[in-house]
Amino acid sequence: MTLQIGNITLENRLFVAPMAGVTDRPFRMLCRQLGAGYAVSEMVTSRKELWGSLKTSRRADHAGEPGPISVQIAGTDAAMMAEAAQYNIDRGAQIIDINMGCPAKKVCNKWAGSALMRDEPLALQIVEAVVAAAAQHGVPVTLKMRTGWSDDRRNAVKLARDFEAAGVQMLTVHGRTREQGYKGAAEYDTIAAVKAAVRVPVVANGDVTSPEKARDVLAATGADAVMIGRRAGPSVDFSRDRAFFKDR
Ligand SMILES: Cc1cc2nc3c(=O)[nH]c(=O)nc-3n(C[C@H](O)[C@H](O)[C@H](O)COP(=O)(O)O)c2cc1C
Repeated sequence: MTLQIGNITLENRLFVAPMAGVTDRPFRMLCRQLGAGYAVSEMVTSRKELWGSLKTSRRADHAGEPGPISVQIAGTDAAMMAEAAQYNIDRGAQIIDINMGCPAKKVCNKWAGSALMRDEPLALQIVEAVVAAAAQHGVPVTLKMRTGWSDDRRNAVKLARDFEAAGVQMLTVHGRTREQGYKGAAEYDTIAAVKAAVRVPVVANGDVTSPEKARDVLAATGADAVMIGRRAGPSVDFSRDRAFFKDR
């Protein structure tokens, strides 16, 4: 079953998650060959001074990659993030994904990634600036976040509504808070609440480790797709998952 993001059609509803240091272009192409409907790039920094570095220039190179080309950007400043969107669109990005899910210190100390969920006005400002920049090229903007900053600040639903109103066209939610890191089990109630609160497609992420689990997560959340991260190791075969989902 296909899924629509703006004017882009995704082949199916099994996605491979962006993973810095893992989902480089060859890895994404392999996952696509194995049946993933969609693969997001590793995050690209919005810090201009790093765009010339080998790491970032490789991340912004999509030669030979099947579309849609989706590039995830990370940063803390609205104007810089808008410029990063423009830079990657110029290099072939057909979808821009905003990172509000990464818990890494390297990212969060600078208030990027999931740390942005703690500063709702700034998060919204960034989204508005990126949407405005991408809209000039007809490029849809998507966003990946967690369920909240901490157990008592689970604000994914509020943010999802704000982001949708600001023009975000798909939302991915990892079922953990920033505070949890990767500890404990992903919870899916908040993802279900996000799905119920918005009209744009919602992607469930976190601890999807088998076709059966993917089916259960889709059922529990009502989400439009699942995104698979750590389980997408060397043995991943999305076509097996896709076969499992046929007619379900
Ligand atoms: C090595 C590694 C790198 C990651 N890098 C990113 C990233 O660049 N951007 C992002 O949004 N999430 C990143 N994540 C988070 C994953 O996309 C995903 O949300 C998380 O691993 C939960 O899904 P899973 O349980 O299927 O692994 C990373 C995760 C791992 C393990």
